[in-house]
Amino acid sequence: MDGVSDMPFRTITEEVGQPAYTMTEFTAAEGIRAGALRLLSDLAYSPSLIPVVAQIFGSDPEAFVQAAAVSAALGFDGIDINMGCPAKNVTEHGAGAGLILDPPRARAIIEKTREGMQRWADGASLAELGVAPSVIDAVALSRESLPANRQGRRVLPISVKTRLGYREITVVEWMHELFPAKPDAITLHGRTLAQLYKGEAHWDAIGQATTVIKAELGIPVVGNGDISSLDDGIQRATLAGTDGFLVGRASMGNPWVFTRHTPTIHEKLTVALRHLALHEEFWGERGVLTVRKHLFGYISSHPTASHIRGELARATTYTQVRAILEEAHTTTSL
Ligand SMILES: Cc1cc2nc3c(=O)[nH]c(=O)nc-3n(C[C@H](O)[C@H](O)[C@H](O)COP(=O)(O)O)c2cc1C
Repeated sequence: MDGVSDMPFRTITEEVGQPAYTMTEFTAAEGIRAGALRLLSDLAYSPSLIPVVAQIFGSDPEAFVQAAAVSAALGFDGIDINMGCPAKNVTEHGAGAGLILDPPRARAIIEKTREGMQRWADGASLAELGVAPSVIDAVALSRESLPANRQGRRVLPISVKTRLGYREITVVEWMHELFPAKPDAITLHGRTLAQLYKGEAHWDAIGQATTVIKAELGIPVVGNGDISSLDDGIQRATLAGTDGFLVGRASMGNPWVFTRHTPTIHEKLTVALRHLALHEEFWGERGVLTVRKHLFGYISSHPTASHIRGELARATTYTQVRAILEEAHTTTSL
């Protein structure tokens, strides 16, 4: 999730929730090609036992050659192509959910992603693949700290995360358009672009599409939308016939959503403090305001949640934020 699933968030999610995998924020393929080093922080991760997938968006298929090779060189376990983002500044450039209206471009993006990955796996250098020198240097630095099992040149699986359609639910036709490009997995968010995040996710349509994807390509399908707990996810995935489910919003300030454990407020505050420390270490001073949205989730069940929320919203230093969370620890007996 853009602005949410940064490295500290994913680290906490892995430590506490241990989902099957995590995914980065969406990262612009064209930006990687242009040498925008700032974007590489979106692709930072702490190598752990849990697989991590790089999510890339863009509209120029050629830029995916470089983005794929960079993702593979960074040691990711998979690459996911975003074909679901409804933000205007993304769709008006033909990226994200805009690709639902341009199937030839969507297929070309998958094909170019595979080409970039294959050329990297076959021994091409990032320079030969057209990656900007500044990005090459940054990737080389990251590779120095990669564990041996992430150093090899691998062809990563390519998944697509998309929606049920643009204005109407046209997911079965949309899937048929993608099949010739042979993605390795599909994640379906059960809404159309026009729905944005409103209304309920259509898990029945996810189920219908899953049947078709399974029959035609036999690849894994992941369902997404409105999942609030592990058992909710299992139930929806089982009914729809998907191989798994992806949790977005419900995981903010709640890494336990992937478990059956109900944390006490003290546990929540302890993890919130660890999240805060990781956030400060990664983002430095500029992260002091962006950490709030995560902390709001951890404190939402505290007896004085609205008071703490107000205090957090006014805090401008990490010291103040830490003091508010520590105080919250002492003011509850739960
Ligand atoms: C703040 C925010 C940022 C998001 N950013 C991304 C993104 O970068 N890539 C993506 O595939 N989906 C993104 N999404 C969509 C979620 O991944 C997910 O598909 C959607 O929220 C529905 O699932 P949920 O009900 O579990 O949240 C974002 C959603 C939110 C709320």
